[in-house]
Amino acid sequence: MRVLSGIQPSGRLHLGNYFGAIRQYLELQEKGNECFYFVANLHALTSTRDKEELEKATLHVATGYLALGIDPERSIFFLQSDVPQVTELTWILNCLCPVSMMEKGTSYKDKVAKGLPANMGLFDYPVLQAADILIYNSEVVPVGADQKQHLEMTRDLAIKFNMAYGETLIVPEPYIVPEVAVVPGIDGQKMSKSYNNTIEIFQSDSSTKKRCSQIVTDSTPLDAPKDPEKCTVFALLKLLAEPAEIEEIAQKYRAGGYGYGQAKARLAELINEKFAPAREKYIQLEKDKDFVRDVLREGGRKARQVAEETITRVRNACGILTNR
Ligand code: ADP
Ligand code: TRP
Repeated sequence: MRVLSGIQPSGRLHLGNYFGAIRQYLELQEKGNECFYFVANLHALTSTRDKEELEKATLHVATGYLALGIDPERSIFFLQSDVPQVTELTWILNCLCPVSMMEKGTSYKDKVAKGLPANMGLFDYPVLQAADILIYNSEVVPVGADQKQHLEMTRDLAIKFNMAYGETLIVPEPYIVPEVAVVPGIDGQKMSKSYNNTIEIFQSDSSTKKRCSQIVTDSTPLDAPKDPEKCTVFALLKLLAEPAEIEEIAQKYRAGGYGYGQAKARLAELINEKFAPAREKYIQLEKDKDFVRDVLREGGRKARQVAEETITRVRNACGILTNR
């Protein structure tokens, strides 16, 4: 199966990115699929104007993916900006895309409500994402639940193109794992860079501990029984602990005498254990920036080959003559 996904370099990688998306990327890679993973730096331009910040975040995400286990021997790993065919396909899809489809975009509306400038890039974000997906003939797209609407729009645009010009584009399927559809942040809302409520993957053990201690809980006294299902700490523990320990902690919550502080300390321990190898790898890779750039360059080369085939098919289908 041809798998594709991307993450915007709009900040530092966090547990929501890992459980909502990256973990699935790795599973799909392990199963021997043909995976394309990329850093969506053109998308990030819709929300930042800071050159240094964008460059830094792009390399952070690239280094982070590699540290977490994206294997350039098995997956094609690259920067969105290394494949110019994507922006050409975006234009062609734009010409088929009803304005009303974009106006229904919940992510667009949310971002504008949060104060991002309502520019054409932000409005058109889903069409660029559709081009990302369609240009590589992707069949399966692993993402978090917040991306569901963008996948529906992508399918719609592929179908519209095929109806207008004949079967040319593959209609992809989203791959969303329900249990991790929405990972909560330290305030209980969806964990997101833009809510400033994340627990970062690549930070020190002590920063993780401090961040976990900041998770908002209710004021039930230590001795009183607690409902684990209403607690953000427990929701995160469920992602990290083994089933037997989850059950044991749930019982302790219900019995009373077990404080949120203890649960938070255990959570920090589990996070630090789980990401220790990736953190170590990240430090190594940071010292070898050339390796990271070489991987991206090679990935970009392979991605462009596939993209060029698709864009040629698309141009031929819709009558765009070229003389290259
Ligand atoms: P953020 O909301 O922090 O800006 P992104 O939009 O860059 O995160 O998301 C990158 C990927 O991680 C997407 O596939 C998204 O669905 C997934 N993701 C992000 N936050 C969460 C979350 N809290 N729960 C589940 N998946 C998430
Ligand atoms: N919009 C996605 C996000 O915010 C990032 C993204 C861009 C993407 N292009 C994509 C995800 C293509 C999957 C496929 O996370």
